[in-house]
Order: sequence, then structure tokens, then C-alpha cells
Amino acid sequence: LGNNLALTPQMGFNDWNAYGCNVSESLIKSTALAMHDNGMQAAGYQYVNIDDCWLTHNRDSSGRLVPDPAKFPDGISGTAAYVHSLGLKLGIYEDAGTMTCAGYPGSLGHEQTDADSFAAWGVDYLKYDNCYADGVNQSGGGGPSAQSRYTTMRDALAKTGRPIVYSLCSWGRDNVWTWGAGVGNSWRTTGDINASWGSMLSIFHSNVGLASYAGPGGWNDPDMLEIGNGMSATEDRSEFSLWAEMAAPLISGTNIANASSTTLGILTNSRVIAVDQDPLGKQGVEVASSGGLDVLAKPLADGDVSVALFNENSGTATISTTVGAIGKTGASSYTLTDLWTGATSTTTGAISASVPGHGTVMLRVTGGTTGGGGGGSTTGEVHAVG
Ligand code: GLA
Repeated sequence: LGNNLALTPQMGFNDWNAYGCNVSESLIKSTALAMHDNGMQAAGYQYVNIDDCWLTHNRDSSGRLVPDPAKFPDGISGTAAYVHSLGLKLGIYEDAGTMTCAGYPGSLGHEQTDADSFAAWGVDYLKYDNCYADGVNQSGGGGPSAQSRYTTMRDALAKTGRPIVYSLCSWGRDNVWTWGAGVGNSWRTTGDINASWGSMLSIFHSNVGLASYAGPGGWNDPDMLEIGNGMSATEDRSEFSLWAEMAAPLISGTNIANASSTTLGILTNSRVIAVDQDPLGKQGVEVASSGGLDVLAKPLADGDVSVALFNENSGTATISTTVGAIGKTGASSYTLTDLWTGATSTTTGAISASVPGHGTVMLRVTGGTTGGGGGGSTTGEVHAVG
């Protein structure tokens, strides 16, 4: 979206995955303060986002949305003022239908009124959902298309004059990736994630092939992070690696104030974050995939290539590729930096690692020139060794 926002994928927090409908001003403020103090803000996390259930069931006499005074005693504007005082930004949630997914008033037909409220309150980010939108129910036909409903809110936000990141919670509806870049800063490509290996893996598979649609200002969104919410640490590192390799928005969905040092260590790994936030803005592609062993390559602005060796299976496996397969050529030696351990090594061309079950080894490859590969080449080989 040409609003000059999210030129790299947005980073932040959203309460839904960990708290569901239990959002409140105190939760948002305490989370913002924790992000400020625990290194997340310094690592690049900027948006503190309120999800569904922040509002009352009725609009006021002027047709405006009303924040639930029991949950938000200082309103959204008071919450925004506090978040801003920490140097962070505030996000909110609404819906492109008659009701939000949890049954609160939707924005369909009220787009300008609601965009004006958000801007007046100091909101910096809108996650715009897709429930109760296609006529009489969520899945029936008859109503205006997702593209037209999302475009109406895009124009309403623009009219406010306030910079507001626009995140389409569009669940892949109407092949949103084909029109998302003209409408929003990111677009959900799938249904909802949950904190399980199976959910994370299936969403990865749905999102990984959509690389050609992503770029600065408009990103495929495989949904929020479940790191810290129940997967193993190895699986959590895989989610973070794969989301970074796919240039996905990095929106933590865990209890930040009580996050373990393992969870915070994953969320704040600066080498992996740098891959996600690389200014070239290319989503990585699968250059090889066979038997549940995948090689992804993401070209980076400085000519390096980030490689993810992802083991979908439960047993340890060796995953191998080559500098040629990931799009590099022209040097007698290349440097490999392991982005999780920080260890470096050199290679004349082979790239290979032992990867634990459900794990991902992430490498930054430096040297030579970049070209070819990384754009759908399938010349890379994947070898399983026990
Ligand atoms: C939908 C969205 C979720 C969350 C809920 C809130 O399911 O996809 O991310 O926002 O609605 O009700």
C-alpha cells in the first residue's frame, strides 16, 4: 500500500493468541511497559495491538464506536497516550462486516466514522477482520466483495491523514494476495493459527508459495506468532525462522510480561530479525523440498542470502544444498553464519547441516555474487540421512 508504512514487515504484539477476548487497558499498558523494558522494543517491536472485544455492543447516539469503559477506563485515547509515552505505537481491531468475529459492532457502512475515531484516539495500526461480511453470514455470497469492503476502509483511513498501518485479516479470501498490495500493508493468507506444530506447519505450506506478491509496504501474513504458547522451543525457533525467511509480520501473541528467557531469546534474536527486516523486502522461496526436508533462500540487500534448512519430520536429518542452488556464484569460498548460534564457517560450495526433528538451521551466506536461484530454481538437492 502506498502509504509509506511497513516498508519492512511490521513488528509488535497482539493480545488475541494468549488472551482471546480478555483484553483490557491494564493488559495493553503492562505489555507495552514489558516490551519497553525487556529488550523487545530495542529489537524492533513497535506496535502494541488490541484485538477483538475492546468495544461495547452499541454505538453512541452519533453512531460512533464506544470503548468498553470497564475494560478501558481511560479509553483508547488514554491507552494510546501511555503507549506513545514509551515510544511505542498502538494498534486496534475492527471488522469489514456487520459484526466483529466476537459479535461486537462491525465497521461495514461506518468506515469513515470509525476511521475518524481511530485517528482521533491516536491509533497507529488497524487489523481489519472479515467476519459477518458476505451477506447473511460469514461464508454465504451476496454481499460486497472482500476487495471492495477492504478498499472502502483503506480510503477512509487515508482521508484521516494519520499514518495508520492497515493489516487485512482476510484469511486468504478472494485470493487476497493478488490484490492485497494495492489495498493493505499486509494480508492474512490463511485461517487462524493455533499453538500447535500441525497448525504452524500447514500455514507455512500455504504461505510459502506466495513470495512473488510480497514486497516493501505489502506483505503476506501467515498470522501471528505462537512462540511461548505451547510448542517446543525447537518448534518455536522454526516458526520464527520461517516467518523471518518469508518476510512475515512479526506479531508476538504471547504473555510478554511473563515470557521465559527462552521465549524472549527467540523473539529478540537480532540476526534472524535482520533477515525479516531486510530492506530489499523479498520473501524467501523454497528452492528444494523433498520428503519433508526443505531449503528456503531469501536474497538480502547487501548481496548475502539467508538460507533456512527446515526439517518437517520428527527425527534428526542432514539437509544439504549448494551455494549455486541458493543463488550464489563466483567465489572460491563463502562464509556461513549460523543465525541461531552465531557460529561462522567457510565453504567452497556445499551447505549442509544436521537439523533436529521439527527444527530449522538458519544460515547467512556471504561472498561471491547473487543472481539466479532464489527465484524458483529447483536444482538444489535435499538428502535425508537418518
Ligand atoms: C478472527 C481473526 C483472529 C482474531 C479473532 C477475534 O478469528 O482471524 O485473528 O482477530 O477473529 O475475534
